[in-house]
Formats: sequence, C-alpha cells, structure tokens
Amino acid sequence: MILLLISLLLLAGVIFVEFNRKNNKTTKQPPKRNPWPKVPNVFIGIKLGSKANIADILEGWAKQYGQQGVFETRLLFQRFYVICSEKAISQLEQKRPYVITRRKNLVSAFNSIGANGLFSAEGDTWKKDRRIVAPSLNHKNVEKYVTKIQLVAGRLVEKWSKVIDKDPDIQIAINDDIILSAVDVISLVAFAKDLNTVTHGGGELSSVLAKLFEIMMIRTVMPIKYYKIPIIGQHLDGGKKLKKYVVDLMQNVVDDFKNNVSEDKSATFLGRMIEFNNKTGDDSMSMERFVGNLLTMFGAGSETTASTLTMCLYEIANDTTGLQNELYKEMSQMVSIVNADLDAYFTCLPRLRSLVYEVLRLKGPTPIFGVENVEPVEINGVTIPTGSYFMFLHKYITEVESFDETTGKGTRRGLLNTPIHEFCARRCLKQDEDGQISFVKPTYGTGFRTFGSGLRICPGKELAEVEILVFLTFILREFEISLSPNHPKITMVTQLAQRASEDICLIMKKRKTKDS
Ligand code: HEM
Ligand SMILES: *[C@@H]1O[C@H](CO)[C@@H](O)[C@H](O)[C@H]1NC(C)=O
Ligand SMILES: *[C@@H]1O[C@H](CO)[C@@H](O)[C@H](O)[C@H]1NC(C)=O
Ligand SMILES: *[C@@H]1O[C@H](CO)[C@@H](O)[C@H](O)[C@H]1NC(C)=O
Ligand SMILES: *[C@@H]1O[C@H](CO)[C@@H](O)[C@H](O)[C@H]1NC(C)=O
Repeated sequence: MILLLISLLLLAGVIFVEFNRKNNKTTKQPPKRNPWPKVPNVFIGIKLGSKANIADILEGWAKQYGQQGVFETRLLFQRFYVICSEKAISQLEQKRPYVITRRKNLVSAFNSIGANGLFSAEGDTWKKDRRIVAPSLNHKNVEKYVTKIQLVAGRLVEKWSKVIDKDPDIQIAINDDIILSAVDVISLVAFAKDLNTVTHGGGELSSVLAKLFEIMMIRTVMPIKYYKIPIIGQHLDGGKKLKKYVVDLMQNVVDDFKNNVSEDKSATFLGRMIEFNNKTGDDSMSMERFVGNLLTMFGAGSETTASTLTMCLYEIANDTTGLQNELYKEMSQMVSIVNADLDAYFTCLPRLRSLVYEVLRLKGPTPIFGVENVEPVEINGVTIPTGSYFMFLHKYITEVESFDETTGKGTRRGLLNTPIHEFCARRCLKQDEDGQISFVKPTYGTGFRTFGSGLRICPGKELAEVEILVFLTFILREFEISLSPNHPKITMVTQLAQRASEDICLIMKKRKTKDS
C-alpha cells in the first residue's frame, strides 16, 4: 500500500524532475563524452523493496560491460556510474570525504527520521562527530565491551538450550534471536542499558527499529523526497510516528544518563561522547546530535553484525567439508571461551576469523556502496561533472582472478586453491613450514572493502568482528549445528544492507564435552 502510493507520487515526480533537468541544461556545461558502455535504461528500482538483489544485477552487468572498470546505467531514472575495478574505485576514494560524499538522498532520508549522526554527516560536522564517536569504538574501548558481549551471548545460548531440552529435534529459526542479541549488545555498549530482549523478547523496540530501517531505505532510493511534502509527507510511510517513538526513547536515555552518571556508565559509548564533548569545551555536540548518533549506532551496528553472524552460522551448518569440527577443535584449545579477552579471540581463532572474513567478502551486508561528488572528478583521465552518482561494486572487485605478490592486488586463493568467486571458509589461511596455520587479513589491495575505506571507514569494525567471534564460539561450544531438513534455498536480498532472503533454520544438538 505504502509502496503503491509512493510509486504514484514517484511517477509524477519523475516527470517534474525530467522537465527541470531539460530546462537546466542551458546553464550547465554539456558533459564530455566518456568512453564507457551504457547499459540501457532498466526499470528495476521499484523492486528494491521486494526481493530483487540489485547487487547481483549490477555484478551481472559488470561481467558483461565492465572491462574498462566503469559503465553507466540508470536506476529509478537516475544515472549512475557503476565502478567495478579496484583501480577505478581507488581513484575516487582518494577524494573522500570532502569531494566524494555520501548520497544526498541518503543523508536527507537518514536525517528525516532523526538519525542525524556520524553516518550521514558531511564536512565539518562529520569531522567533529568522527572525533567524538570513533574513539569510543577503538581497540582500547572494545576491549572493555567484550564482557558485555559475553553476557548477551551466554543468554542466547541458555535460551536455545532450554528450547532444546524440551524438544531435542526442534528446528530453531535463528534470525530474530540474533537481531535481538545485536540490539542488546549495542544498548549495553552505547549506554549501559541492559534491555535483555534476548530473554524477554523485543517487544515494540525491535519491530519499530526494523520498520524505521525499511522507511530509511525507501526514502533513500526514491528519487523524489515525498516525505518533504508539507503536512502529509511524513505520514505517507508512517515515518512520523516511528520517528517520534525512537527519538523520545533516545532522548530519555540521554537525559537519564546525564542526570545519573555512575562509574559503570562512563565506560560506554554515550559516556565517552559526553566526556569528549566536555573536553572540546565548546559543547560541540548538541542534544539532537547525541540522539541522532545513538540511533545511528543502532542503525549501523545491529543489522549489519546480525546478518553477518547469521550467514556465518548458515555456512557452518551447510558445510560438508568438516569445517565445524576444525572450528570446534581450534576453539577448544583456547584457555577459556567464556572469559577470553579481545586479544585471545583475535589471536587464537585463525580458522574462525577466515570464515568470518569470507562471509563478509561474499555474503556480507555491504556488497555495493553509493556516493556522489560535489566537485568534478576524474576517472582514467575522463572528467565527470559535479552531482554525479556512483555505485562501487565492493564485492565484485574482490573477484579478480590471480593474486599478485608484488602489488598485493587480487584475492588470495587460500589453502585449498579455491577460485575467487567461490565461497571458501579457509581462504584467509596460510600454513607455514611447521604446519602452523595463521590468518591473513584481506586488505584494500585484495579489493576488500566490506567496511568501506579511508577516513570514513566503519569505526565499528573491531566491535563487529569480536561480537561475531564471541557469539560463534559460545554457540559452537555448546551445540553441533546443522541445517534443518529440506531447508529452503538461501539467496541474498539487498535493502539498505544485504541479508538472507529467508529465515535460517537450524537443528542444534547439545555437545557432551565442553571446555571450562
Ligand atoms: C559486519 C558489521 C558491519 C559492517 C559490514 C559495516 C560496514 C560499514 C560500511 C561499509 C560503512 C561505510 C564506510 C564508508 O563510508 O566508507 C560503515 C560506516 C559506519 N559504521 Fe559500520 N559496519 C558494521 C558494523 C558496525 C558497528 C557494530 C557499528 C557501531 C556500533 C558501526 C558503526 C558505523 C558508523 C558510525 C559508520 C559511519 C562512519 C562515518 O561515516 O565516518 N558499524 N560501516
Ligand atoms: C538545476 O540546477 C541548479 C543549479 O545548477 C540545481 O541547484 C538544481 O538542483 C537543478 N535542478 C534540477 C531539477 O536538476
Ligand atoms: C541511577 O542509576 C542506577 C543504576 O544504573 C539506578 O539504580 C538508579 O535508580 C538511577 N537513579 C536515578 C535517579 O535515575
Ligand atoms: C561536563 O562539564 C560540566 C561543566 O563544564 C560538568 O558540570 C559536568 O559534570 C561534565 N560532565 C561530564 C560527564 O563530565
Ligand atoms: C547448501 O550448499 C549447497 C552447495 O554445497 C547448495 O547447493 C545448497 O543450495 C545449500 N543449501 C541451502 C539450503 O541453501
């Protein structure tokens, strides 16, 4: 219903925009001819809300038309330069964050529902926010968050154990519980609030957040800003009510926090934000931005991490090469899983990390990435005018056959010499002469950009990784997992982030032996 309304508005809007564009041509310099192929107009955009995978479509075209690293296409009537080689992407990346910016549609959509934080900030606001937000997610602070993650992971395992005790053959659909886990972790890390939705259920909050992200997505991809129409705009998709709900909630969190600073709370994201804000002396972050940044944390940090963790469990469950045993053996050699610290998770689990990075590379939440430019930019010597849209094919560019030791370009084939477009949980492993296995982290040179790149790289990447490692070790230590029989085939869908099309259903058998 919402989509239908929006589609109608959209059609009216497109005619308007196209009309204006024609009138604008006289004032603009005609764009120089570029040598890149143009993939004919295809009206696929409207399917974004459904199960189409826009990343798959663009990657298919890249195989066909992407030899020069760039091709043009139109999505929802907007022209895009699709960038599909590492070389072309790196030319544009150098111009971030000031010349190459986030897409204004995305910024406007995020801000319209109250998520005006680091993710949607530009220029000086971004610089200030980044200085305040990013340190709270650095190595030293993530170390302190590990016990909070362990608390939530313990609860998830306990919840599933209870269900299995009642019925050992039960099939558990894991997606929702994993989202709730990620929400619990973020609220503990962000403002020391123990929502414990894993045990008590998400109630309104998780469905509100889910709806909010959907609306953010729709508002981002629609070429007209229907939500800015006076009076009715914000109601068309139900965004106004949801925004009020979450903004009030976050506002209360900040108020409570400011009025009641305890020792424990200062070791949180919000505590650090307030502290850093105080240090700069000019009270540079307003209440509105505190709230916006809290929402941004939920937005950027919950579904991405949850989706990656879910796909890791899926790959382990559907593996037929003995992966689960290898992983179990590796984690059994840790002194303790439940009390390990950050460095132990990062150093003792090369096989698990390799799996996680391969999932991030091929089944991760961010296979494509859109930006635009506020000044003319060059690719391979061709100038592209201001206000153009770009789509980076982050996943596709890791699929460059052959790895070159001298330049470090191209993706490693790994222990099993697996072709780069195939999934291989052991890809990021290296074996030295005495048989020791170690983890080789994928680099920009190998095309890996799941967490973005440069100055705007995801500040939550270390938190995300350790969160995934903690949950996987807690789960695999307790259960031997397999896919439920006749499991529907899993495909990936792209919304704001990419995720599995279906619930993942697992059968979990309790393990008899355990460490610690
Ligand atoms: C597997 C999990 C995650 C993935 C794949 C991911 C991916 C990304 C990507 C691709 C970007 C854009 C980077 C760019 O502009 O080049 C980003 C930005 C960001 N992420 Fe993450 N992220 C994840 C988890 C998290 C977590 C757990 C948090 C925080 C709790 C977080 C917070 C942020 C923030 C605040 C930004 C905006 C940074 C800026 O614009 O300066 N992310 N993330
Ligand atoms: C027309 O051009 C002006 C300035 O060049 C720009 O601000 C405006 O957004 C353009 N309008 C459309 C519909 O492209
Ligand atoms: C302050 O925080 C503590 C623990 O988080 C809580 O028990 C107490 O009720 C709070 N006090 C007020 C006035 O909110
Ligand atoms: C911030 O600074 C003000 C005064 O400058 C002080 O009253 C307040 O306690 C400080 N808050 C924190 C969390 O340090
Ligand atoms: C499990 O993996 C096989 C390939 O090994 C694949 O063909 C199959 O579709 C996967 N199962 C599901 C349920 O996706």
